[in-house]
Amino acid sequence: MVVFGTRPEATKMAPVVRELERHPGMEPIVTVTAQHREMLDQVLRLFRLPVHHDLDIMRPRQSLTDVTVRVLEGLERLLEAERPDVVLVHGDTATTAAASLAAFYARVPVGHVEAGLRTYRKYEPFPEEIFRRITDAIADIHFAPTRQARDNLLAERIDGRSIFVTGNTAIDALLMTVRPDYTFRTPGLAGILDGGRRVLAVEAHRRENWGRPMHDICRALRRVLDARDDVCLVYSVHRNPEVAGVVTRYLDGHPRAHLFSPPLDYDEWANLMARCAFVVTDSGGLQEEAPALGKPVLLLRNATERPEAVAAGTVQQVGTDPDAVTAAILRLLDDPEAYRAMATARNPYGDGQAARRTVQGLACWLGLSTERPDEWDG
Ligand code: UD1
Repeated sequence: MVVFGTRPEATKMAPVVRELERHPGMEPIVTVTAQHREMLDQVLRLFRLPVHHDLDIMRPRQSLTDVTVRVLEGLERLLEAERPDVVLVHGDTATTAAASLAAFYARVPVGHVEAGLRTYRKYEPFPEEIFRRITDAIADIHFAPTRQARDNLLAERIDGRSIFVTGNTAIDALLMTVRPDYTFRTPGLAGILDGGRRVLAVEAHRRENWGRPMHDICRALRRVLDARDDVCLVYSVHRNPEVAGVVTRYLDGHPRAHLFSPPLDYDEWANLMARCAFVVTDSGGLQEEAPALGKPVLLLRNATERPEAVAAGTVQQVGTDPDAVTAAILRLLDDPEAYRAMATARNPYGDGQAARRTVQGLACWLGLSTERPDEWDG
């Protein structure tokens, strides 16, 4: 049973579901919690994913407790009825942690896709750091995207035989989606990209940035637009009302701030990233996706669980101080050497084969095969 609930989980699990469908010895049961509704449904449609069970839990302004309780309750009944051989979860959301716990209560083994990411700071990112640790503690099989992630798990005394280094399935999804001849359908987007200005792709929504940091980020973006008239930004605004209000307040009405709310669909955003100058974000997944497209990332956070890209030089951790954000953006805009160094660094996150390695690893663990998959060596 593959369980997911938010947009990023759906995107990154889509290649895994496809691969499970191809395997003669496996039968995926797709269960969505629908922690996100519209943002999830868009990805389900895009990848034409089957849905066998839909818990439909999303409510406006839901709290972490709301989500956790509804996932636990919904899955208790379902796991009892289906008794799957294994539950697969992805990443670090409330759905991920609660689904793992529900499977543990039902004594169903858990496989964690994107296991082993850590900052070792309890509240950064909040609540994802602890959700990952809970999930890895429960999981029986760990699909680590990188060797660094595997080493984190080994240091926590997780059995190495349960760990497969696969690369990140985000790259599989991206390679399925980004095309040189892609045609944008969102009104206005193609015109912005063809408008002769450098385009910054912006996305910031994280819980630990709500309040003051979001204000600071938006203020910095506004300053950059005022300082460089050959630059525009495309901000794909998350549906969370905590985020949308602040973004609108600082940027709405500026002729070169293009706010897309509801947010751009995954395929539109991915193809936009492939054509932008660089990405400014606090997102987790974009730190993996943008480097795979050769795009620098300025990271609006104080800690990252994805140190590989920082080490490779494609991601620069900037924080949220408005002066630091402004300076980092202007430097990338004005210094071609700095830009080139970040744009040409190597992508450490995958080669598009992560879903295949994941399913081969699962087959191995289930006793359907004796051959361990090759290891991603990024
Ligand atoms: C969640 C994840 C976060 C992930 C993010 C990706 C948790 C704790 N957080 O955060 O790790 O990076 O998803 O987007 O699991 N909403 C809608 N329609 C939608 C989606 C969201 O209206 O399709 C609104 C709802 O008002 C909802 C709010 O957004 O209450 C927040 O959604 P929630 O899933 O609780 O948190 P995210 O901030 O999206």
